[in-house]
Amino acid sequence: MSESKIEHRKSKTAAAAPAAATGLGYITSALAAPVSPAEAALRPLTFADFTGQTKTVERLQVMVGAARRRGDALNHILLSGPPGLGKTTLAFILGHELGRNVRVTSGPVLEKAGDLAGLLTNLEEGDILFIDEIHRTPKTVEEYLYSAMEDFRLDIMIDQGPNARSVRLSLPRFTLVGATTRSGLLTAPLRSRFTLQTRLDYYDHATLETIVQRSCALLKVPIDTGGAQEIAQRCRGTPRIANNLINFVRDYAQERAQGRISQPVAARALELLEIDAAGLDEMDKRMLRVMAENYRGGPVGMSTIAVAVGEEAETLEEVHEPFLIQEGYLQRTPQGRVLTARGYHAIGLKAAASDQGTLL
Ligand SMILES: Nc1ncnc2c1ncn2[C@@H]1O[C@H](COP(=O)(O)OP(=O)(O)OP(=O)(O)O)[C@@H](O)[C@H]1O
Ligand SMILES: [Mg+2]
Repeated sequence: MSESKIEHRKSKTAAAAPAAATGLGYITSALAAPVSPAEAALRPLTFADFTGQTKTVERLQVMVGAARRRGDALNHILLSGPPGLGKTTLAFILGHELGRNVRVTSGPVLEKAGDLAGLLTNLEEGDILFIDEIHRTPKTVEEYLYSAMEDFRLDIMIDQGPNARSVRLSLPRFTLVGATTRSGLLTAPLRSRFTLQTRLDYYDHATLETIVQRSCALLKVPIDTGGAQEIAQRCRGTPRIANNLINFVRDYAQERAQGRISQPVAARALELLEIDAAGLDEMDKRMLRVMAENYRGGPVGMSTIAVAVGEEAETLEEVHEPFLIQEGYLQRTPQGRVLTARGYHAIGLKAAASDQGTLL
């Protein structure tokens, strides 16, 4: 079995790139940016190195163990959850643990069946094909995935008009690992072809503290417990943001505090980035403010909020809303989004008696 060959390549959408330039908060742009070499260096390579997501990790370990014992390919796996929680990381860990290659692509890059055929026919037995943003795979390509996943074959049409004919390609037994930030957008036939569908959740503060300590150790940045706790609390439950914040806090500590990250140093650095004590950034707050000030706390539809804050509804739903809901700043109702008392509090307002949510 060959050493697993790892390709660190990120194919994010073109639309994601300019986020930093649109004046969004630090957190939003950190999530939209392509994976930097610095970030890739902090990526855990084995299950032992990966902290948190215990249920998902145990499910994957069971499957990896069983596949290895039987000498079989791993069954297809769908990883879902908000950006920056470790979907890509886990796909590479699977490759590493199995000693297999991981080929990376993403839904929007697969424009035609030929793109998929090219990738699939180059796989070896047991290899992993990782499709990021799989919910954005064009419908025409998705249909080819069905037989590839189920029967390990691909029937493709070559030529056009009277010469058109179908050619059957048989494929090695491969494993498809799909990642999506929007599992709700996956079609039922595609979803049903994944043996395991598992969702990553935001990390708790204790786990993030461990991740911050690990990253700082790898970067050789001195940090104490208070400093690690401060970053853990302000990173929106997201390791990618934690790693990004560490970079800035490290610079701040170097310029203003003899290089050492303590609680006050971390707090001052993060205030400079306008990340509040709960990790909310400018766009989160803009959403909450629009709901409070323009719509009396809702219910209001996401597309309306999107127009008011000047951001795409899709981005708000993928990046901002899940965290705001999980932390209880807003609620989703059939009538629309509703601001909670906690949401009002976060922007320094009290919930009006007539609004949803209780009085502070
Ligand atoms: N459990 C973890 N322990 C330590 N570091 C982690 C963990 N999960 C993620 N990270 C770090 O966070 C970074 C982001 O993770 P990753 O790229 O896997 O997220 P993702 O879920 O694929 O995000 P996206 O949806 O934006 O593609 C990784 O480079 C890694 O350094
Ligand atoms: Mg990813």
